[in-house]
Amino acid sequence: MQIITTKSELTRQASACIRQGKTIGFVPTMGALHEGHASLIRRACSENEVCFVSVFVNPTQFNNAEDLQKYPRTLEKDAELLESLGVHFVFAPTSNEMYSAEEMAESFEFDFDGLDKVMEGKMRPGHFNGVVQVVSRLFELVCPTRAYFGEKDFQQLAIIRYMVERSALAHNFKNIQIIGCPIVREKSGLAMSSRNERLSNEERQTAVAISKTLIASMEWAKTDTVAAVQQRVIDTINAVDGLDVEYYAIVDKSTLQPTNSWKNAVGCVTVFCGPVRLIDNILY
Ligand code: PAF
Repeated sequence: MQIITTKSELTRQASACIRQGKTIGFVPTMGALHEGHASLIRRACSENEVCFVSVFVNPTQFNNAEDLQKYPRTLEKDAELLESLGVHFVFAPTSNEMYSAEEMAESFEFDFDGLDKVMEGKMRPGHFNGVVQVVSRLFELVCPTRAYFGEKDFQQLAIIRYMVERSALAHNFKNIQIIGCPIVREKSGLAMSSRNERLSNEERQTAVAISKTLIASMEWAKTDTVAAVQQRVIDTINAVDGLDVEYYAIVDKSTLQPTNSWKNAVGCVTVFCGPVRLIDNILY
């Protein structure tokens, strides 16, 4: 496995693979890798001849300086896991390598036909512009055959699919296949996340109520309306000491707009467990 820190070396290696006619699987990450990432990487390694993984805590997608500062950084441990999974190339640049000073300060807005105006996009203004800025940059450098993303970040996945299929950037990326992979959960049901590392043991127990409530809501959905289930999920989670729902929205899984129908519905939740912001979702 080779660890690459410069964009020029990344392009050189990726271009060499493309010239040799090899298929490239790519998994972009922000590090602090867990079993959820490992599931994407295993799939990328098994479905492609070469596997590239990026490990970069992207500053432009954080709208909260403290969140950026506290985001776990565990490159040495991550590299061991990546090597054991059979990854060929890891791209781990510094922020200065990734962005010029002007790019860091640049304020731009992509148009995602409203997909970015709800839920995470509403709560974290600018977040998805930062995600698309970095993912599009990485796609340009790697030119992957397939790129893998977790369904835990349901809205992110929808926006990246839109970017590849329909946005102004689509012409650059029309040959990239975007693969969504199922949420990986701890035995307790808690959705795996790099942010879980910041939970105390007690908070980890408390956070289990999030997935438990989402699973219970599948039953409620058999008899109740969307509005009633939405409210019941919020009330049930908020009733747990230490949990505070930021939003729970039952939306259409393609448009991400609120829906009254159970057809194609997905419920997306963000909950503060102490200071840690956790997200999860469930398809009805
Ligand atoms: O999901 C993530 O970890 C990040 O948003 C991504 C896609 C690696 C972009 O920084």
